[in-house]
Amino acid sequence: MEISVVGVGAVFLAVLLIVVLNWISGQRDKCVQQRAKSTLLQYLHQFLPHSSSPSLPGPPSFFLIGNMMELTHDHLPIHLTNLAQRYGKIYRLKCGNTTMVVLNSSEVIREALVKKWSDFAGRPVSYTGNIVSGGGHTISLGDYNEEWKAHRRLVHSALQRCYQQSLHNVIERQALHLRKVLIDYQGRAVDLSEDFTVAASNVITTLAFGKEYDKSSAELQQLHSCLNEIVALWGSSWISALDSFPLLRKLPNPVFSRLLKEVARRDEIITKHLNDYKSQDIENKDAITGSLLRGLDKHHNTENEELLTDLHVHMATVDLLIGGTETTAAWLNWTVAFLLHRPEVQTRVYEELCTVLEGRYPKYSDRHRLPVLRALISEVLRLRPVAPLAVPHRAIRDSRSAQLQQRENSVC
Ligand code: HEM
Repeated sequence: MEISVVGVGAVFLAVLLIVVLNWISGQRDKCVQQRAKSTLLQYLHQFLPHSSSPSLPGPPSFFLIGNMMELTHDHLPIHLTNLAQRYGKIYRLKCGNTTMVVLNSSEVIREALVKKWSDFAGRPVSYTGNIVSGGGHTISLGDYNEEWKAHRRLVHSALQRCYQQSLHNVIERQALHLRKVLIDYQGRAVDLSEDFTVAASNVITTLAFGKEYDKSSAELQQLHSCLNEIVALWGSSWISALDSFPLLRKLPNPVFSRLLKEVARRDEIITKHLNDYKSQDIENKDAITGSLLRGLDKHHNTENEELLTDLHVHMATVDLLIGGTETTAAWLNWTVAFLLHRPEVQTRVYEELCTVLEGRYPKYSDRHRLPVLRALISEVLRLRPVAPLAVPHRAIRDSRSAQLQQRENSVC
């Protein structure tokens, strides 16, 4: 009898939650952009030891849903900044039994991520995060441990090698192609977002699979629709609720089923590309895949067992594709928008490029001699941050700096 009361209670709570989540979902569907932003928040849904949260200020939280409603605002980063004016530069938000710590000033963020970076080197582990990251095997979502460190070293050294050998040529080729596309528009009013996505994506796919695509390519469209769908679905309340309320995992959830389908599609596409890469007779020197595969053997744990496998190359490819495409494309979109409104800045950048480069195309090493261009890049990222909520970190030990008194496992 007692069990059935608990069971009925649990079902009731689950139904109540579904109603609430449905409403939250409705709010979210009002704005597609909001879904992308909340994706970043999704990372934050982690368990904070209850002993460490009462000392932090934060908005009043409601039974069961905690502060989930705060996360449904259309302009989430602005809303979180507004909350900081009421609750201070470090405050907490609760979602069910999940608590997140929001840092709201460059000073405390620098303290956590630069000065005390080793205290906050971890990433929160979550049920849905594990699903999209192949069990936490991406660099962006993986937690801090020997395997993650080896994985990160492998990718960084492959990128470093690629930077020395071919990165400049790959980027220059795409930049020149983009220039031609823009000239061909002959001053017509156009939406450039797709062209920017294709250019940024071609740099990454050349690095990852040694392949580049036309804007009309079905393969490219399929890859992007799949990756964008995963990012958007993962930001949905239907998915993030599964991290905070494990009971909901037992119920049918069509949005979650779609996420699983898209993750499977993504893995199928990347597996095919990696297999094609492995079976080619002549190695493509532009791709970093060769360096990644060769580097696997060098990484062993203390028992001399293999620490990294093909799965790590697969998930590094996912990291590069998701991390490197829409970020760059969004920045290009905003830069063009701002420059259209500020022609005098356009002129200053153009004059600097003409004077410093004397007619040749820029190289990465020229950046120190191009202060106006660098200021433009930083200013656009400041005004329209591509990842305004960044990627959350988890304290791997108690942190006792003057500003941040965070317990192990707190997430910021
Ligand atoms: C405007 C451009 C970009 C922005 C704003 C951006 C933003 C970020 C942020 C906020 C993080 C989290 C850092 C942290 O938690 O400490 C990150 C990590 C990462 N990004 Fe980017 N990113 C950009 C471009 C790229 C590109 C072009 C690539 C790939 C070539 C890339 C690949 C990655 C990877 C692999 C990580 C995880 C790195 C690690 O933990 O070592 N990103 N990025």
